[in-house]
Amino acid sequence: MKGVHHTMVTMFGLLNFLFFSILPAMAGDLDLLISFKNSLANPSLLSDWNHAKGVCNFPGVACKEGYVSSLIIRDLPLGADFVSVSAHILSLPNLESLSLHSINLTGSITVPAKCTVQLKKLDLSSNDLRGSVSDAASLAASYPSVQSLNLSNNSIGQAFDHSYPFIPNLKMLDLSYNKIATNKDLQWLFSKLELLQHLDLSNNNIPGDIPILPLLSMRRLELLDLSFNNFNGSLPKSISKLTSLELLNLSANMLSGQIPHSLCTQGVSSLKWLYLLDNFLTGYIPESLSNCTKLVSLDLSLNLLSGSIPDSLGSLSNLKYLMMWQNNLNGEIPRKLSSLRSLRNLVLDYNNLTATIPDGLVNCTSLNWISLASNRLTGSIPIWIGKLEKLVILILRNNSFTGLIPPELGDCKGLVYLQLSSNQLNGSIPTALAKQSGKIVVDLVVDGWPVVTLAYSSNTQCYHKIILVEFNGIRYEDLMHMPSTRYCNFSRIYRYSTGNLHRNNELTMIYLDLSYNQLTGNIPTEISTMRSLQVLNLEHNQLSGPLPHEMGGLTHLFVLYLSNNMLDGMIPSSFSGLSLSVIDLSNNRLSGPIPEWGSLATFPESAFENNSGLCGFPMPPCNGGSTSKGDVRQQHVSSQVWWIALGLLFSFFLIIGFVIGLLVK
Ligand SMILES: *[C@@H]1O[C@H](CO)[C@@H](O)[C@H](O)[C@H]1NC(C)=O
Ligand SMILES: *[C@@H]1O[C@H](CO)[C@@H](O)[C@H](O)[C@H]1NC(C)=O
Ligand SMILES: *[C@@H]1O[C@H](CO)[C@@H](O)[C@H](O)[C@H]1NC(C)=O
Ligand SMILES: *[C@@H]1O[C@H](CO)[C@@H](O)[C@H](O)[C@H]1NC(C)=O
Ligand SMILES: *[C@@H]1O[C@H](CO)[C@@H](O)[C@H](O)[C@H]1NC(C)=O
Ligand SMILES: *[C@@H]1O[C@H](CO)[C@@H](O)[C@H](O)[C@H]1NC(C)=O
Ligand SMILES: *[C@@H]1O[C@H](CO)[C@@H](O)[C@H](O)[C@H]1NC(C)=O
Ligand SMILES: *[C@@H]1O[C@H](CO)[C@@H](O)[C@H](O)[C@H]1NC(C)=O
Ligand SMILES: *[C@@H]1O[C@H](CO)[C@@H](O)[C@H](O)[C@H]1NC(C)=O
Ligand SMILES: *[C@@H]1O[C@H](CO)[C@@H](O)[C@H](O)[C@H]1NC(C)=O
Ligand SMILES: *[C@@H]1O[C@H](CO)[C@@H](O)[C@H](O)[C@H]1NC(C)=O
Ligand SMILES: *[C@@H]1O[C@H](CO)[C@@H](O)[C@H](O)[C@H]1NC(C)=O
Repeated sequence: MKGVHHTMVTMFGLLNFLFFSILPAMAGDLDLLISFKNSLANPSLLSDWNHAKGVCNFPGVACKEGYVSSLIIRDLPLGADFVSVSAHILSLPNLESLSLHSINLTGSITVPAKCTVQLKKLDLSSNDLRGSVSDAASLAASYPSVQSLNLSNNSIGQAFDHSYPFIPNLKMLDLSYNKIATNKDLQWLFSKLELLQHLDLSNNNIPGDIPILPLLSMRRLELLDLSFNNFNGSLPKSISKLTSLELLNLSANMLSGQIPHSLCTQGVSSLKWLYLLDNFLTGYIPESLSNCTKLVSLDLSLNLLSGSIPDSLGSLSNLKYLMMWQNNLNGEIPRKLSSLRSLRNLVLDYNNLTATIPDGLVNCTSLNWISLASNRLTGSIPIWIGKLEKLVILILRNNSFTGLIPPELGDCKGLVYLQLSSNQLNGSIPTALAKQSGKIVVDLVVDGWPVVTLAYSSNTQCYHKIILVEFNGIRYEDLMHMPSTRYCNFSRIYRYSTGNLHRNNELTMIYLDLSYNQLTGNIPTEISTMRSLQVLNLEHNQLSGPLPHEMGGLTHLFVLYLSNNMLDGMIPSSFSGLSLSVIDLSNNRLSGPIPEWGSLATFPESAFENNSGLCGFPMPPCNGGSTSKGDVRQQHVSSQVWWIALGLLFSFFLIIGFVIGLLVK
């Protein structure tokens, strides 16, 4: 590895000798980096690292006073071995910060022979490093100044021994996405990390009890992420002694027992984010949570909690996100929640909540997302919802709401997702719902929140053909615990994040579901001004009159359910302009020919059956004439289009949209 060096000495003789004597360390730096490059199977990946440039001009290198102080290489498949990094890079004497993220770094973690005393930050994330947790600890301990060690997304496994050295200055340790599969001896590690502030062990397979005694040795802990493991047993009471804790994420584990009533009772609490969702927690929600005065986000969803939502949560004046869906909570939605002026997300679906929506919520003007599906809520849908200017998602599906749909909902300047299905709403569809069309405030934010869309195409036992579920911090498999997935065979599940609603041209409602109510009157022609509409579901009502021919202009519409109403007249010829992936017009009183052109003739008979005389393909020919030869292949293509199109559903929301695939085979 010294070959290059020697050649240079013979070529430049005295000059070079002088150069090296003046800047010996810098030349050493150059030598070390070139040696690292030459150790690679494919050195040309670092072709910019050559002698012609000064070492400080190498891409990724930063220098202080002529010496390499920082090196960053990201997302380059170098295929290096840790031994080589250790011998050449980790011996750079003035290195303060090293980041080798996703460079296909392999091999076992070992302690370098020579350790730089300056190293403060070491990021080796997203590689394939092996070794035990104690190897990782030994590595950290060999750099006396190191404050931050990121080994996230490697292959660090169990194989503990008890020889953890003291790691005096470490403040941040990220071992998430590794293969740690035992909780044994974690306490030994923790006892050496007295100054740690940030600990991430999420996404491993750690079983058993939460090792609380050792956690308590880290008195300065501010962030603790143990989510996506297999911790069982109960949540230790003494966790409340970690008084510096700002973020506690224990979601997606198997914790049982009660939420400790001692939380936030130890003097001033720092807790801002409390995530206990997707466990098996039972009992009541403790009143003491009202002492967590800094709380911004509280998520207790997917547990077995019972009792009512404590009134005292109304005193958490910083609360923005309140999520408790899928529990056994009963009683009323506390009136005191009206004091939560910062509240953005109120997600309480799948509980046993009763009574009306409290009027005080009109004062929670930041509300962005209200989801109260599958409870036992009664009364009418409050007209003041129209005053919530930031409301984007309103889901009141499957409750016992009565009375009229308030026309005031048309005043919401951001409402793009409205689901009022399976209630006892009557009267007609207010034309004012379309009032917001073209007036929607762009750049409304739904905070890049993870959601899933569950969908299935045909299953008569299920009411809701497409539903949206908040899905932050939930194990994907645990979707199976949801009642809807138990009752309905959802054939597709899409997972994505909500995002900014950015559009230059006019934006209108995207999703409108008023199905399974007792709505009467006509389908208002104004619906056709909702130009962004993608899903319209009005099935199982008592709607009458004709299909407005203006609806043929809804170019984004791809799901149209109008079955089981009393609609009559002909299917307007303009409907041949719709690019539908699904339509259901069955069980109405429609008559006349099915438009031959466009997507309509590609659907099966079931989409048109039990009407008063629809004819033409796929139904019997009109006037005994011949049916146009729509072929079977076309129908097949159509059903595929539906699934692809669904992936694009709410494309305005959609930032990252990737299809996870079949849930039910
Ligand atoms: C990673 O590097 C190893 C050699 O160290 C090589 O066998 C493997 O193919 C590389 N993997 C990728 C994804 O580049
Ligand atoms: C882990 O690293 C691999 C390889 O760099 C990358 O493809 C993957 O997305 C990473 N996973 C996570 C969870 O960061
Ligand atoms: C560790 O690295 C991963 C992958 O680059 C990154 O996502 C994570 O935020 C880092 N952890 C910390 C605490 O910075
Ligand atoms: C927790 O899991 C371990 C096995 O990993 C098992 O031995 C223990 O009984 C479980 N405890 C509880 C409370 O379920
Ligand atoms: C735990 O919760 C925090 C706060 O929302 C979040 O930033 C973090 O990503 C979560 N951890 C995992 C593994 O999802
Ligand atoms: C709040 O904390 C104090 C101690 O700081 C305690 O006395 C009080 O009972 C707690 N309140 C609740 C509702 O638990
Ligand atoms: C919901 O509450 C009612 C009483 O209001 C009770 O009869 C019923 O069993 C509860 N349902 C569930 C699933 O807890
Ligand atoms: C909303 O807040 C105002 C003052 O902050 C109060 O006077 C009013 O009663 C509140 N509305 C409801 C319905 O609680
Ligand atoms: C509707 O809500 C009730 C509880 O009010 C629940 O039992 C039922 O499963 C829900 N139906 C669906 C389809 O989610
Ligand atoms: C709607 O239902 C309520 C009872 O829930 C009834 O009083 C009212 O007259 C009905 N209105 C219409 C227009 O049918
Ligand atoms: C769901 O599918 C299973 C078999 O795949 C069947 O036994 C069950 O009846 C179906 N459930 C519903 C609600 O259709
Ligand atoms: C036909 O549709 C009407 C509703 O328009 C419904 O009442 C009737 O039961 C349906 N008949 C059959 C055989 O499904």
